[in-house]
Amino acid sequence: MSDNKNPFRIGVAGLGTVGAGVVKVIQTNADVIKARCGREVQIVSVIASNKTKDRGVDLSNYQWADSLQAMAQDENIDAVVEMIGGSEGQAKDFVFEAIKNGKHVITANKALLAHHGFEMEELAEKNNVTVAYEAAIAGAIPIVKVIRESLAGNNIDSVYGILNGTCNYILSEMRKTGKDFADVLQEAQEKGYAEADPAFDVDGIDAAHKLCLLGAMSFGVKPDFENLEIEGISNITIRDIRQAEELGYFIKLIGMATQEEGVYTQSMAPCLVPIHSQVGQVEDVFNCVQVMSDGADKTFLEGRGAGELPTASSVLSDIVDLARGNRLPMLGCKTKDLKEAEWKNAQNIKTKAF
Ligand code: HSE
Repeated sequence: MSDNKNPFRIGVAGLGTVGAGVVKVIQTNADVIKARCGREVQIVSVIASNKTKDRGVDLSNYQWADSLQAMAQDENIDAVVEMIGGSEGQAKDFVFEAIKNGKHVITANKALLAHHGFEMEELAEKNNVTVAYEAAIAGAIPIVKVIRESLAGNNIDSVYGILNGTCNYILSEMRKTGKDFADVLQEAQEKGYAEADPAFDVDGIDAAHKLCLLGAMSFGVKPDFENLEIEGISNITIRDIRQAEELGYFIKLIGMATQEEGVYTQSMAPCLVPIHSQVGQVEDVFNCVQVMSDGADKTFLEGRGAGELPTASSVLSDIVDLARGNRLPMLGCKTKDLKEAEWKNAQNIKTKAF
């Protein structure tokens, strides 16, 4: 842990469900966070598209930044917390500008990372800053930490799981209540689980963004979203769900990335999972990730995959890490050491799911 006793100064950009949640947790858990960092975490400024909206959190002690660019260039900020979302435009310009200005970036933006993470990290290495993103993958589950740190001495063969809370909520609720897809999706939106455009959830794209990052960090390869096979859940009917159940299965949206002797696969698709299996029992908004590695064998984690406080919990884990002086390369090794994978069609891989 660093001996730096100065406050760790952050700017929060984007005050939607997760951004507002981060501010709330920093306020309510200030003492425990300070003790764990050995220094105070101080919000210097905030910014969002609407200044007057009531977000259920007191913002009166913070400066409202003049613009995203001003926040990215602010000399009084050590790290920006990017909660804007989207792979292009504002969010991308903001983080690249912040990195160029020597600021660490903490983000939950899996779309941005899946598409531009490699170039972000190259720029971060050049500017000696860190891109941290525990909140981008599987909500509250500390899977980035587990793969990059706890399993760092292992070769990872596969990473597999339920990576979208909205889809798992929809599939579970449809089965339990018999409600329509559209009604349950609306509930997921009201609970703050869904993306701004929920098509990203139900079409499997959001989960695929996460899988692309998981595969890259597990295997030490460059993220390659373009070569990921994706099928979502929007065509699943209540009839499909009932028929699967009669046969002893639940339908789950499952992501899987594998590597065997230099052959890599990555795919996202609805699968039939045995009802009483560990993955079958992951219900509601919960996500799970299973990692198979040569030393540790099976590692299985389960937790809330979406929502205000669970996602904010992971953002705080990154803030605390950086405030302590803990810094790691985005994908576990330097960009120059990441391999170029040749991805093969996942249909040829044998699995226990259908
Ligand atoms: N919309 C995402 C989900 C949010 O439902 O999993 C968390 O990444």
